[in-house]
Amino acid sequence: MDNRAIGVFDSGIGGLTVVKELMKILPNEKIVYFGDTARVPYGSRSEETIKKFSKECISFLNKKDIKSLIIACNTVSAVAIEMLKEEFDMHILGVIIPGSKMASEVTNNNRIGVIGTNATVNSGAYEKCIKSENNQNIVYSKACPLFVPIVEEGLSDSNIALETTKHYLEELINKNVDTLVMGCTHYPILENTINIVVGDKIKLVNPAKETAAEMKKYLEMNNLLNEDINVKDNIFYITDDENKFKKNLLDFIEIENPIIKKIDLKEKQLDEKS
Ligand code: DGL
Repeated sequence: MDNRAIGVFDSGIGGLTVVKELMKILPNEKIVYFGDTARVPYGSRSEETIKKFSKECISFLNKKDIKSLIIACNTVSAVAIEMLKEEFDMHILGVIIPGSKMASEVTNNNRIGVIGTNATVNSGAYEKCIKSENNQNIVYSKACPLFVPIVEEGLSDSNIALETTKHYLEELINKNVDTLVMGCTHYPILENTINIVVGDKIKLVNPAKETAAEMKKYLEMNNLLNEDINVKDNIFYITDDENKFKKNLLDFIEIENPIIKKIDLKEKQLDEKS
């Protein structure tokens, strides 16, 4: 038994889709979340900047006595996970391998669409991983850079979201994909709108679900589950306005009185021990 927390990192609120799945299947686990809300989006930035930002954030989380870390950001998982694994001596789980496995399992025609940020799509990480699951798989990728600001602004069920989704997904629908990977952790927040556009012939894959399941397996196999049923409060660290984050958090996850702390990575909170 290990009552330390699981760390979850994202550039903004997208990692909450992973938190939601973790809370469903690992209700006894404490979660320490870090959302770099002041610098989101990462997905249109250079590889060098994504590596620098993610290293700064994970240095902070690493001081929080966590037993494992989920990189709940496809962009960071796509371009920086190897560097982060070398840099930090802890168990790190990304979202791309779990999402790719799931996509390969659910497709019937081996035609798989992937949507993600510019950085994720340009990295080719999903394509490589989905093909390594089954070399018959054909992957069609599409960057959807407007989705992240739409989600961060709380506009996921709006007409703007619907029109933007139609604009981005038409191309993939025409490729006759039967499976679509939501390859950015912000996108499952848009799931209702995406479903309206793709209809029921295309199955949506949410890598957050499979990632949470992988974390459960890892904790079980290594005797690291927290069996103490009096779970202490989850903590959400962010780098920008608490009120906006709180609204998004409460709209998406049922949680009472969440503890949200704004920190400034440039100041001494970087070394905060609490
Ligand atoms: N949620 C992140 C992802 O999964 C990235 C969004 C962004 O910062 O661009 O890719």
